Amino acid sequence: MRAPGRVNLLGDHTDYNDGFVLPMTIDRAVWWAVCANADDRVRLHSVNFDESIEYPLGAHPAVVRGGWSSYVTGVVEELRRRHGLNRGFDGVVYGDVPLGGGLSSSAALEVATTLALQPLLDAPLDPVSAIRLCQDVEHRYAGVRCGIMDQFASRLGRSGCALFLDCRSLAHVDIPLPLDEVSVVIVNSGVERSLASSAYNRRRAECDEAVAHFRRFDPALSALRDVTPQLLDQHGEGLPVRVRNRARHVVEENARVRAASELLSARRFEAFGRSMTESHASLRDLYEVSCEELDGLVDIALATEGVLGGRMTGAGFGGCAVFLTRKALAGELERRVNDDYPARFAVTPTVFVLAGNLEAGAVPDA
Ligand code: GLA
Repeated sequence: MRAPGRVNLLGDHTDYNDGFVLPMTIDRAVWWAVCANADDRVRLHSVNFDESIEYPLGAHPAVVRGGWSSYVTGVVEELRRRHGLNRGFDGVVYGDVPLGGGLSSSAALEVATTLALQPLLDAPLDPVSAIRLCQDVEHRYAGVRCGIMDQFASRLGRSGCALFLDCRSLAHVDIPLPLDEVSVVIVNSGVERSLASSAYNRRRAECDEAVAHFRRFDPALSALRDVTPQLLDQHGEGLPVRVRNRARHVVEENARVRAASELLSARRFEAFGRSMTESHASLRDLYEVSCEELDGLVDIALATEGVLGGRMTGAGFGGCAVFLTRKALAGELERRVNDDYPARFAVTPTVFVLAGNLEAGAVPDA
């Protein structure tokens, strides 16, 4: 069983505000081989870390929070408690989603674990319950109060498509993104997302502060998703500038995702690319989750022929940027980034031109 990582094309820091996102899966994933055993023990081995862990099912072990085993043992424990996982198993896991790069290696690991353990459960686990369980594991076992985007994209993203998701209703639409005319190019800045989880949780708290403020003027609203541009203009003044800026980013980013999804459906790639670049400016200036290196990557890319737009992707504070280019000129972006970025920042970038994108599920026979 496998589950892919994801890149988010548009809509960052909107998911936990009940807003809209537009991710797509990538061509890298996490794979499990699992078989039930007869002794009620859980034996796990990570090929990437060359680490093993073994414990009796039900005796949740103390592991490093945020380490690979915290995600896996968290999913195992929640499947046991909620879905009748009551047999031991031996499992080996391997992944090629870059770690800590903003491409959801942890969501891919969680989702792949639910899929691999499905045969050992009481009853089939529907995708949305699995997605919510994985999100919950991230909150409780890894300490990141993430939204639902990453797990949703990894579990339900379709090959050849981006996924437009309403994070409140969970209504979703697959938008075809055939990589024949344009390319999606992902660049890992090589900057570790240090302190990302505390900064992330702080952004969430700022959004909660903004919601509490706007609720004084409209008691019916329950998330920044419900704040209109008019309400923001009329009553935003009462907030500290920093919190007002966070709210403005979310309100405008939600509108941008909805409009840009239409552009993508209509294959209006140039206009879609411009929305990506606008999103970057908002994440940099209003939400303040970019960094010099990601800004530098966007500058380099925008000065390169064939690039239609681009932005940081995911939580930010390092990690990856994503670009849309004319297909014939994707190589040009790769060359420019490999030449100019190390010269400017003394860090080596990694460039992936997306050849296609995977779906979660059983691995087809070779
Ligand atoms: C991380 C979280 C997501 C989302 C993004 C920012 O990837 O896991 O839920 O909030 O950051 O858009």
